[in-house]
Amino acid sequence: MKIVNARRLFGVLVAVGLCASLCMAAPSRESWQHRDRVVGDLNLQAGDSIADIGCGSGYFTFHLAKAVGNTGKIYATEISEKALKSVANRVARDKIANVACVQSDPTDTKLKADTLDAAFICNVLHHVPASARAALVKDIAKAIKPGGVFFIVDWRVDAKIKYDLNRRVPRDDLIKLAKDAGLELDAEFFYLTHQVFLRFAKPAAKPADKS
Ligand SMILES: C[S@@+](CC[C@H](N)C(=O)[O-])C[C@H]1O[C@@H](n2cnc3c(N)ncnc32)[C@H](O)[C@@H]1O
Repeated sequence: MKIVNARRLFGVLVAVGLCASLCMAAPSRESWQHRDRVVGDLNLQAGDSIADIGCGSGYFTFHLAKAVGNTGKIYATEISEKALKSVANRVARDKIANVACVQSDPTDTKLKADTLDAAFICNVLHHVPASARAALVKDIAKAIKPGGVFFIVDWRVDAKIKYDLNRRVPRDDLIKLAKDAGLELDAEFFYLTHQVFLRFAKPAAKPADKS
């Protein structure tokens, strides 16, 4: 009986130890992504139209959907059919009316021009081949209304986390991509340990010249 208990105790200790070491090796995304704070800093209003470019499995999508409410709209875009399907399944399962799933191409978001109050792209640009990045960002900028905003969140090149070590895009290159697309850097948030978080504005339309 005592031997059985000792074995059980040993088993529990091994399991706890394994669990602890796994947790230390890979801190959960929640611990560094600060999702609620990031969504708060997008300053979304009820009724806004937002694109979540490269939404993946919807880590941000459903939080963005809550922020814009029933009168708002989230366009969740993806090049991966599988990822988009998982978002679409959740949309259908939970009867979420304000999320539209958009199957996009690498440099074509399939979004209409001048329709978005904001576009958000998190941890996507480093996945896009360098040769395609400028065209993608220009296409995103085209979809934003004059006066609207564009947010980029992506790895810092020196982030002490194991992901995407060989394809991180320097902050200055991210800024250049947006500037070349006609956007202006107007804010930067510094609280994300592993990522840069940049906000760009699309200049408001100039009043028509009546002369
Ligand atoms: C690391 S995941 C990030 C997903 C999500 N944005 C997040 O923060 O959890 C990168 C996603 O970008 C998608 N992706 C890569 N290139 C893309 C492109 N040109 N347009 C749209 N999505 C793209 C990939 O299919 C993948 O689902």
